[in-house]
Amino acid sequence: MNKIKAVKFHTVFIAALLLSPLAGLHAAEVSNLRCEYLSAPLGIDVVKPRLSWVMESPLRGEKQTAYRVLVASSAELLKKDRGDVWDSGKVVSDQSIQVEYAGKTLESRMRFYWKVRIWDKDGKASDWSRPTLWTMGLLQPADWKGMWIGLDEPLREMPATTNKAIQAANEIASRRLPARWLRKEFIVGRQVKRATAYVSGLGLSELYVNGHKVGDDVLSPGLTDYHKRVFYVARDVTKLVRPDRNAIGVILGNGRYHAPRNKTPARTQDYGSPKLCLQLEVEYTDGTRDEIVSDPTWKLTTAGPIEANNEYDGEEYDARREMPGWANAGFSDSGWMPAKCVSAPGGKLVAQIINAIRVTGTLQPIAITEPKPGVFIYDMGQNMVGWCRLHVRGPAGTIVTLRHAETLQPDGTLYISNLRGAKATDAYTLKGQGRETYEPRFTYHGFRFVEVTGFPGKPTLASLEGCIVNDDLATTGEFSCSQPTINRNYRNMVWGVRGNYRSIITDCPQRDERQGWLGDRSAESKGEAYLFDIAALYAKWLQDMADSQKENGSISDVCPEYWSLYNDSVTWPSSAVIIPGMLLDQYADIGVVARQYPSMVKWIDHMSGYISNGIISKDSYGDWCVPPEDFKLIHSKDPARKTAKPILATCYFYDCLKLMRRYATLLSKAEDAARFDALADQLKVALSTKFYSPEKGFYSNGSQTACVLPLAFEMVPAAEHKRVFDHLVEKITSETKGHIGTGLIGGQWINRVLTADGRADLVYGFATNTTYPSWGYMAEHGATTVWELWNGDTADPSMNSGNHVMLIGDFIIWLYENLGGIQCDSGAIGFKKIVIKPTPVADLKWVKAQYDSPYGRIVSSWKLDDSNLMLNVTVPANTTATVFMPTQNAARLTESGKPVEKAEGVKFLRMQSGAAVYSVVSGTYRFQSKFSELTR
Ligand code: BGC
Repeated sequence: MNKIKAVKFHTVFIAALLLSPLAGLHAAEVSNLRCEYLSAPLGIDVVKPRLSWVMESPLRGEKQTAYRVLVASSAELLKKDRGDVWDSGKVVSDQSIQVEYAGKTLESRMRFYWKVRIWDKDGKASDWSRPTLWTMGLLQPADWKGMWIGLDEPLREMPATTNKAIQAANEIASRRLPARWLRKEFIVGRQVKRATAYVSGLGLSELYVNGHKVGDDVLSPGLTDYHKRVFYVARDVTKLVRPDRNAIGVILGNGRYHAPRNKTPARTQDYGSPKLCLQLEVEYTDGTRDEIVSDPTWKLTTAGPIEANNEYDGEEYDARREMPGWANAGFSDSGWMPAKCVSAPGGKLVAQIINAIRVTGTLQPIAITEPKPGVFIYDMGQNMVGWCRLHVRGPAGTIVTLRHAETLQPDGTLYISNLRGAKATDAYTLKGQGRETYEPRFTYHGFRFVEVTGFPGKPTLASLEGCIVNDDLATTGEFSCSQPTINRNYRNMVWGVRGNYRSIITDCPQRDERQGWLGDRSAESKGEAYLFDIAALYAKWLQDMADSQKENGSISDVCPEYWSLYNDSVTWPSSAVIIPGMLLDQYADIGVVARQYPSMVKWIDHMSGYISNGIISKDSYGDWCVPPEDFKLIHSKDPARKTAKPILATCYFYDCLKLMRRYATLLSKAEDAARFDALADQLKVALSTKFYSPEKGFYSNGSQTACVLPLAFEMVPAAEHKRVFDHLVEKITSETKGHIGTGLIGGQWINRVLTADGRADLVYGFATNTTYPSWGYMAEHGATTVWELWNGDTADPSMNSGNHVMLIGDFIIWLYENLGGIQCDSGAIGFKKIVIKPTPVADLKWVKAQYDSPYGRIVSSWKLDDSNLMLNVTVPANTTATVFMPTQNAARLTESGKPVEKAEGVKFLRMQSGAAVYSVVSGTYRFQSKFSELTR
């Protein structure tokens, strides 16, 4: 071997060794470093941010015994293992999530590089993780030198008129202001070390530096009640700033800041005209710095190509009015006006600490039709949320109009009645220069079908693509099973959930509503955690709820409070108490519980004033959207289907009190805990005294929901439990013939209540039904998401969205926690201790479920063939699990082909309800049992 060959051989040999499964076997790795749930966030304003990481190891029984976090002020120092900002030292602890930073006091603009090393079960240290970073935003109001600038004057003169049509047209015009384009040039004379822009452009904005759009997010910043709180976003623009002349540009859209609407069910808050506050901070290598801030020296025009924009109505873009080079130095802005100083929005400027909204995918249309000459209908094949990217060639001045809708009329044209006042129409005027591509910026639509008119020539499938727009959240779960209807329902639900993330949690994406209705996503939110990493987003939504709270404690049904609805109903605002529990269970987020606690107590105390003799009756919406008896109805008129208000309110308030007791105990507030507990007891007793009929064996009118809630919250006296449950079963089997009979409220618990007492088969029926009412019925009738109404194909269009999340109820929770059987142990939080308890049911042959928990991936997949049940389980490092393996005879179980008692890390605990129960350490397992011994 000559020398080169020898070196090569040596390298290959070492590489092969490193890559071999044996090499990795003993070294645990640290991955997925995050700060406040985000990876490498810029400009946060949390002074004790929480850090987390994941220990990766395929070894059985691996766990973290200690950690060391290094936080350094420079990448170089970190490389030398110097944590000048924080060196936690070796901390003997298995904590790997929600580790609170405890170093030097954090101040505005600081930049940190950090990494982690951990010690495994044998005390062996891992390598350092890959380094990552976070930066601090502007923590003090005094840090802000930027002024709020914009243009407040109404741009279109509206002549007074009594003509209704003109009034309507004027109203539409007034809510579709043209975009504001702002620019400023500046000179950089020295070498730049770092340039950071802090930008708050309301309602929506895009930032440009020297002609380049900064960042790939859209619809930025996130939504808030601007009177209370306004987000800024920090952006690293170091690479875009040049030592010479530079230009910075911002386009402002209306978003929800300027979204006046009178005709929707409630009047929408209008905050005024769009405005900007910006601060570009340039640090030089010589230690000096400059600030370029928004002020009246900026120039502004409304004569750019975006002639009109509104989130609900759409965007009008005239490409002939483009201003090439507007965000570059040297552009002649002599025709632009000086920007005006305008009033501040009122809320405090705070950092946006949620994932950005992005175009997270594209869809190609699957068909085009031409139901009328020149009217082309594109079918995207999926009810999606976002907008279209249009490709077109034609003469200047040609206007191509895109209208969006979820469904079609029988004649093949768009069905738009269910959009109510939302125009959902984008219009593009060509500049006539070869192939032109257009996609809107300051609007979004919920649609499957797109009507294209005015297209020069005949459009093809390639003329249009769908841009999918939503909060860019990591996917956390995967689920599939042998039953195709369940898989289809699941797929539709994932699309629906995803499309309703818009920096708030919306009810729907298509009509003139798109609001953060609290009730729709309370207990249901737990299911979403299995689909997407929702921690930061839901924590932010809780902040919106606290922001909406009145002095007296009342919380709006819609948050942010764009619709001011203070009804003091229990069910909707109770999300402010229920959702912290979800964040606690799924993410071990005690911090958010502590942060929200004062607001929760205030709401509980306020609402307690409505309790009379242990019963609270405040309820506005009932068990919203129970399946109606008549296909044309929105709401059922049948008293037997409805659930009495005191049942809904008292049960929900009881659940809230129990949660409050849990939070108070966690936060060491024993007195509060006792107070909530005592009140809860009063409600429990009163519910049964007042509404339980010992003769009939059910509460109130015995509706499905009137059974589900007392059972779900354990309010039924033990001796009566079976009777109430049996009544529920009877209602389902004889009255609704195996179909679901609950609305939004009962639906968030029914699947789990039935499964807990051994009737998963009924849930399986709901899950696989294709007759009304069911998710399968929706799918059979063309749904590719989930409808607002069980009878969404026939009901009145005034309240009939094709993409609502609320009727999912606890179905996704059921898929993961029951069918797949992945649960957080009730004695733990954040999946530190896991339960794997699959539910083989009816003719189901296999299930594959996996969930990326805060500690890493959990897998539970099972398969049944003629003779065996196989259960594959992965328990992530640094956690343990209890596995329920369905069998009658534990002695004949095997794990990875060996008798189970010989399996490493597996300990038999007991037999329980047809399953052998084992405690297992982390690792991957293959359990197998004989089918003949299995009970279903
Ligand atoms: C919304 C629902 C909401 C309900 C409450 C509807 O218009 O779309 O999601 O919960 O109103 O009234």
